[in-house]
Amino acid sequence: MTNILVTGGAGYIGSHACKALKQAGYTPVTYDNLVTGWEDAVKFGPFERGDLSDRARLDEVFAKYKPAAVMHFAALSQVGEAMSEPGRYWRNNVCGSLTLIEAACAAGCLNFVFSSTCATYGEHDNVVLDENTPQEPLNAYGASKRAVENILRDFGAAYGLNAVIFRYFNVAGADPEAEVGEHHRPETHLIPVMLEAIDGKRPALTIYGTDYDTPDGTCIRDYVHVCDLVDAHVLGLKWLEEGKESRVFNLGTGSGFSVREVIDASRAVTNREVPYSEGPRRGGDATKLVSGSVRAEKELGWSPDRSKMDQMIADAWRWHQTGHYEK
Ligand SMILES: NC(=O)c1ccc[n+]([C@@H]2O[C@H](COP(=O)([O-])OP(=O)(O)OC[C@H]3O[C@@H](n4cnc5c(N)ncnc54)[C@H](O)[C@@H]3O)[C@@H](O)[C@H]2O)c1
Repeated sequence: MTNILVTGGAGYIGSHACKALKQAGYTPVTYDNLVTGWEDAVKFGPFERGDLSDRARLDEVFAKYKPAAVMHFAALSQVGEAMSEPGRYWRNNVCGSLTLIEAACAAGCLNFVFSSTCATYGEHDNVVLDENTPQEPLNAYGASKRAVENILRDFGAAYGLNAVIFRYFNVAGADPEAEVGEHHRPETHLIPVMLEAIDGKRPALTIYGTDYDTPDGTCIRDYVHVCDLVDAHVLGLKWLEEGKESRVFNLGTGSGFSVREVIDASRAVTNREVPYSEGPRRGGDATKLVSGSVRAEKELGWSPDRSKMDQMIADAWRWHQTGHYEK
């Protein structure tokens, strides 16, 4: 079977990617330092513990598995933390990725799939963001991801590294079989935070900012089901296997939901009240981030069929009720 090196495979999206890769006939090899990941989420292939910055360890793992491609999910990804500790973000996400990319090229592993983010776009008033929208990140997290995109372009030109770059919008939901799910500590993502509040595991959800220029005053985001997202990665891998050119794809649905709309949907799906309070805006948050994903649909044949708000909340709720998040 073909090995794929999955950095961050012990995390939320990486663990779902490992399941999708296994189902597609690949062997996912997780490389993760467990800084925010969980060893028991590595269920679908071998686990190699290591840090992105450890070149000797990376060389060892490339030599052992001879992966056909890298899927690079490993990163720090909290906007608030990136605002207060930018150095950690530049070091981990940029220096770490650079070390990984150099190791991949040295090992002759020239197919690379990278997790980028809509946070690279920054604030663009009321436009649907396509891949050509200028990238003007508002925080060190988005800036670190944009920097890695640039590194990939330079290594493509110099060494023939082929990269599919995915700019995700808000990822939500969980494996419908609840084998893996979302588990960040601390949790900052809206839907799992809301489910914890619904379940009495935290006092309330805070809405950060109710005076944005949106119909109900709260921020608008585009939510994509994690299973649809990882399906796109398998399609991206096949794109590279077919020898197609390096490409950037947005992954979202083109539909925006405000925080209040997500609260309403959660109330309806769980049949429970959502305790919430209203707080001031949080630095680094854009008003509205909605994707144009026409390119991924047309060129990769991607269809985000599971990305209905009710479905994402229902799958996240099923995972939440397994109790895994309580660790
Ligand atoms: N969750 C989202 O909504 C979202 C949106 C846009 C982009 N992304 C990107 O997707 C990727 C995965 O996000 P996630 O939500 O699964 O995060 P996560 O924190 O659950 O997973 C990240 C994994 O990377 C590992 N890791 C971090 N730094 C490492 C290092 N130096 N060496 C080895 N392993 C390291 C962590 O231990 C963790 O298992 C990230 O790159 C993130 O920036 C996520």
